[in-house]
Amino acid sequence: MELLKQQELPLIKACMEAREKSYSPYSHFQVGAALLTKTGKIYKGCNIENAAYTPTNCAERTAFFHAVSEGERDFAAIAICGGTKGELTAYTAPCGVCRQVMMEFCNQDTFRVILVKSEKEYEIYMLKELMPFGFGPSDLQ
Ligand code: THU
Repeated sequence: MELLKQQELPLIKACMEAREKSYSPYSHFQVGAALLTKTGKIYKGCNIENAAYTPTNCAERTAFFHAVSEGERDFAAIAICGGTKGELTAYTAPCGVCRQVMMEFCNQDTFRVILVKSEKEYEIYMLKELMPFGFGPSDLQ
């Protein structure tokens, strides 16, 4: 809890930095995500689009796959921001597929999703609020 409070601002800044790397020539909707591990490391990701459209990867999944491919498995929070070029005017919430990826690696009761408009304007949700009655690894045990 305390760790997260301290990490909020760096995580918010990191998602905005990640958005600058967005590859979105088709939608022009630039998204950045920054994923915080329980040990305090931050992994960034941006959306990566594709001319065939369906291979497009959201910023959130890029951040998760980046972290998981580096051996990380325990996550505390993710910050997300998105919008067409320039200022952020609205919150961007994760799509259903990204919420399902969160379900795979995160505890629904403790993992926080931070939706960001600016360093001062952001909202924090628990994964459980965004994915009620979700399906995850424990359902297969
Ligand atoms: N997108 C994300 O990266 N994350 C979201 O939470 C919503 C949507 C991307 C996918 C696509 O590149 C663009 O935004 C428009 O849908």
